[in-house]
Amino acid sequence: MTYLETTPNAHPDYRSGKRDRIASLAEDADFRALSAAWRNMAQQRQYMHNFSWMGRPLIQFPMDAMAIQEIIWSVRPDLIIETGIAHGGSLALCASMLELLGGDRMVLGVDIDIRAHNRTAIEQHPMAHRIRMIEGSSTSPDVVDAVHKFAADRKKVVVLLDSNHTHDHVLAELNAYASLVSPDSYCVVFDTFVEDMPDDFVWVDRPWGKGNNPKTAVREWMASHPEFAIDRTFEDHLLITSAPEGFLKRVS
Ligand SMILES: C[S@@+](CC[C@H](N)C(=O)[O-])C[C@H]1O[C@@H](n2cnc3c(N)ncnc32)[C@H](O)[C@@H]1O
Repeated sequence: MTYLETTPNAHPDYRSGKRDRIASLAEDADFRALSAAWRNMAQQRQYMHNFSWMGRPLIQFPMDAMAIQEIIWSVRPDLIIETGIAHGGSLALCASMLELLGGDRMVLGVDIDIRAHNRTAIEQHPMAHRIRMIEGSSTSPDVVDAVHKFAADRKKVVVLLDSNHTHDHVLAELNAYASLVSPDSYCVVFDTFVEDMPDDFVWVDRPWGKGNNPKTAVREWMASHPEFAIDRTFEDHLLITSAPEGFLKRVS
């Protein structure tokens, strides 16, 4: 188990208490079952579409937005790469955190289909100076090449994968982008929870489901990438997350 220190200046008693509490939550079967049941119901009701960040719709559980904030403040990246822009809420979240950190930090979003109204709103957003976008499939060679070129002289990089949630696509994204993640930073693979949904859950108009999703891709990819470790302290402290087993920390 790795651990992201999110409160380095807090009193040592607070920090050790927090570590102990998170470790105990990892073993708390009742609380975890309740959280899973809540998450399943939330998915059925499209609850994660209820939120926004600085006026842009954000398609995440609020707990995962908290995790993104904790990662950004702790890692202090000079580049965040996100596949899957949608309305741009996550780009706005990342950009606003990078703005607080200062310097020339940027977030680069990739989406196969940036709708005109979303592009306009993102380009007119108060955080637009921190945001760049590439339209195209995140696994197409020209897009991968463009992202690598953009990242070339960036030293601290975080990667967020939140586009097409099929096994093959996420595996290809991991192969394309995880190498850009800097030591002690993170690649977050969202929607791994698809694997944990009840057997009878129907993903309407989606090609992914049990056995074919980001978690199956992470499991296959991790088997040959010891430079990364799953940081389970995220799911242990969030309890409700779309990314169980999806917080991949670069450890070497
Ligand atoms: C779940 S949404 C992203 C949500 C966004 N990250 C947020 O937090 O608000 C998924 C997005 O992935 C995009 N997408 C689907 N297939 C893709 C692909 N092959 N390459 C890049 N983006 C893709 C879709 O167009 C959609 O906008």
